[in-house]
Amino acid sequence: MTRSLFASTLVLALALAISAVVMAIASGGHAVVVTAEILVPIGVLALLVAQLVASGRLRSTTLRTRFQLGLALALGQLLAALLIGAAVMFVSDHDALATIGLLLFAALIAARAAQLLSGGVVADIRAIRDGLRAVGAGDRNARVAASSSVELEDLAAAANRMIGTLQSEEQQRDAADSARRQVIAAVSHDLRTPLTSLRLLTQALDDNLVDEVTARRYVHTMGANVQALAALVDDLFELSRLDAGDFTWSTEAVALSELINETITSMSAEAAANSVILDTQIAAGLGPARANPEKLQRVLCNLLQNAIHHTPSDGSVLVSAQAANGTVHIAVSDTGDGIAAEDAPRVFEPFYRAGSDAARASAGSGLGLAIARAIVEAHGGRIWLAEAPRGTRVQFTLPLAT
Ligand SMILES: Nc1ncnc2c1ncn2[C@@H]1O[C@H](COP(=O)(O)OP(=O)(O)O)[C@@H](O)[C@H]1O
Ligand SMILES: [Mg+2]
Repeated sequence: MTRSLFASTLVLALALAISAVVMAIASGGHAVVVTAEILVPIGVLALLVAQLVASGRLRSTTLRTRFQLGLALALGQLLAALLIGAAVMFVSDHDALATIGLLLFAALIAARAAQLLSGGVVADIRAIRDGLRAVGAGDRNARVAASSSVELEDLAAAANRMIGTLQSEEQQRDAADSARRQVIAAVSHDLRTPLTSLRLLTQALDDNLVDEVTARRYVHTMGANVQALAALVDDLFELSRLDAGDFTWSTEAVALSELINETITSMSAEAAANSVILDTQIAAGLGPARANPEKLQRVLCNLLQNAIHHTPSDGSVLVSAQAANGTVHIAVSDTGDGIAAEDAPRVFEPFYRAGSDAARASAGSGLGLAIARAIVEAHGGRIWLAEAPRGTRVQFTLPLAT
């Protein structure tokens, strides 16, 4: 406020100085004093009015009123100076009257011009206000436009950016919400099946309804149910921690051929039971990868398990590794039926199981690939279904240890 007053005073002084020079040239020293006596009160009054409006004390003035006030101040000063000039006789009555005629003409034209100029601004502000109201009422497709001035165009563009961000954030949140709901539905379903079986079996045993051989068979089934439940809960726990970014593993330089061969050995019994041959193909001189060995083993196990289970007997599974573009590429390929094109985009989602309903019901938890993806991404790599002449080929990258 004080700075604004100071600036106004400065402008007043400058205006006086300029008019004094002009008057001195036109009519000599005496005229300077008379003009100053007339102009100082007029200028002070005009600036005070403008200052008062600008200070916000007259709060609900419209933009149009302000435009018109500016105009009235400019023309009003001229009129006042002329009238007083005529009264103190240094402007002739005739000249004053003629100038007032011109002034009134200019005033009317200028008023209309001000109306036109402020009209676009006012319309733009209303359009922006209406757009933002619509957004506030829930319409995320609303967009605003302004064309009257660069500043309002900027404002409209900023508002549109904000609405766009709001819209995409809401879409992401909705998608995450719906994914979470699906996961909860899948978890409850997958928990219910073994739990129902356990409940029925314990009831039968409790009621002493079965002979000893059947009882032993029931206990065996119950063991399998408990194991399935434990595996599901372990997987869920692991996935939720990976999802939350809550992991503190150390990474080290991992010699890949050793780790891959170790994993293959640990899976060989399962492969033999399914009559599937496991093989490796590791590029000569392949450098070590930067990874956490246990987690990397988990990824390979999940991929190998899938490959073994989806490959008919006498088929084969190949684990290959090579360096390309500064990263390690590891692939697990099998000679099974492959993944249908419509399932391919979704198999990395938690609980997604491809194939027929029967295959879905009998398969695992549907978390294997989701966990593999989370681990690979936590290592800074990516995982995808690669093109393969037959069967399935899951490929992922890891950073090379430098
Ligand atoms: N090697 C593969 N061959 C054919 N289908 C596969 C293969 N690997 C994964 N799939 C499909 O992807 C789905 C998701 O795999 P995954 O996340 O490991 O869950 P799960 O093995 O528990 O069903 C599987 O249900 C299966 O339909
Ligand atoms: Mg699996």
